[in-house]
Amino acid sequence: MRLPDPALVVLVGPSGAGKSTWAAGRYRTEEVVSSDALRGVVGSGPHDLDASADAFALLETVVAARLGRGLTTVVDTLGLDADRRLAWLAAARAAGLPAVAVRMHTPDALCRQRNAARDRPVPAPVLAAQLKRAALVGTALDLEGWDLVHVVDTDEAPRVPEEAPRRVEGHTPRRGPDDRRSSQGLRVVLQVSRFPWGEDPAGWLRSVALAADEAGFAGLALMDHLIQIPQVGRAWEPIPEPWVTLGMLAGLDTRLDLGTLVTPVTFRPAGVVAKAAATLDALTGGRCFVGIGAGWWAREHAAYAVPFPSARERLDLLEDAIRTMRALWASGTKAYAGGRVDLPETTGYPRPAGRIPVVVGGGGERRTLRIAAELGDACNVASDPETLDRKIEVLRAHCRDVGRDPAEVAVTVLDLPVVGRDRADAWARVERLRGRSPAAAFARRTHAGTVADQRDRYGALADRGVDTVFLGLGDLAGPEDVLALADLVG
Ligand code: GTP
Ligand code: MG
Repeated sequence: MRLPDPALVVLVGPSGAGKSTWAAGRYRTEEVVSSDALRGVVGSGPHDLDASADAFALLETVVAARLGRGLTTVVDTLGLDADRRLAWLAAARAAGLPAVAVRMHTPDALCRQRNAARDRPVPAPVLAAQLKRAALVGTALDLEGWDLVHVVDTDEAPRVPEEAPRRVEGHTPRRGPDDRRSSQGLRVVLQVSRFPWGEDPAGWLRSVALAADEAGFAGLALMDHLIQIPQVGRAWEPIPEPWVTLGMLAGLDTRLDLGTLVTPVTFRPAGVVAKAAATLDALTGGRCFVGIGAGWWAREHAAYAVPFPSARERLDLLEDAIRTMRALWASGTKAYAGGRVDLPETTGYPRPAGRIPVVVGGGGERRTLRIAAELGDACNVASDPETLDRKIEVLRAHCRDVGRDPAEVAVTVLDLPVVGRDRADAWARVERLRGRSPAAAFARRTHAGTVADQRDRYGALADRGVDTVFLGLGDLAGPEDVLALADLVG
């Protein structure tokens, strides 16, 4: 049965009849104005009867305001008071909205039983009085002039989805193997570099991560910068500390791999990174990865009083960092001696849940790719085809040199496309994002196009031997943008 919408919907029925449940299964939270909920707002809780007068005053204000805007309004009270009902009916008429009464027709015994099962049951005599009034309300409703009186019998199946309690409303995690790959054989990881989270940082992050899980992304990667980098945004835009942020995301019910892309070796001693990563891996049951690089941006180091040694020293640090992390993650507590790194013991608890993949970021052919070949599980380079082919070739050569099977070092790319719903939308985004770059050049550089266009390109990347794409959106605004990529990552 479809009820008119927008409309005023007045619920009618005794305690325990199932009014709130019925409304929650059909309407958005914001559309339901509940006297119980408002008692909780102005009083100590939904059952604070001393707060009733204030709660009802507020309820009338909300109902009038919503109806005045032509918005669907579901009034969740007992609805047994005829004067109140008639006032709401008149307000709907004044607003030109249809007025619907929904009468919950629930057997008395069931109401009593549900009432008794509650944390704070309504006293039995009070419920008895309600049941008596409810028995007579049907006739009254028929005479009051409602556009529709909809009777809900309890045998009408409840529409509230039976979800596991920790699931988030509207979040359907993708089923499938743990190693999530797209139909093209790629792992696609969402790289988040901008955080337009408005007034709700945690809520925004959460919604983006849940959307990534639902869309089928294999993981979520965060940049590690102390100041937002000019390639992404303005210096005063937020850029959160990644390990703290990943810790929050670890608490969500997803199967996303979580990690950095990339953390510069200069920010934290390698042992401390090893500790953070091991903790994250333990908390997530083995979903942590560490993207790590030599660091490049002098400004953020200066601003935060972090030493920024020469490129050669930073590359030494990178090599040492990977050795140090691996030593601390390995089982046992024995001393470690590896060239420049000398650890008197390697006591590290919690232990990681599994082998934490180390992704070496940067395409420096002489050293970075060498370090990746020697010590990395993966090597992250740019996604444009010419560069990619060249880097893969160099990486493989280094692997041969150091006697490592090239298959052990996965090739990953950072891909920063402009993705539109259709051609026109892609172009509108190019216009918005291009800054002073000529539109055509920017569109080419960012592979501006639809999801289908990106799919064609990803097919080619897979053919070239790419294992994982870190996909970042220059104009990521929120979860919708992430969900829109489902066909690309699934
Ligand atoms: P008050 O707010 O006290 O006036 O009650 P209400 O009419 O809003 O009832 P509510 O929706 O809170 O439901 C009361 C109890 O019955 C809750 O524990 C619900 O989970 C349960 N309930 C409501 N509708 C259904 C239903 O259709 N099927 C089942 N199995 N349980 C229901
Ligand atoms: Mg209720």
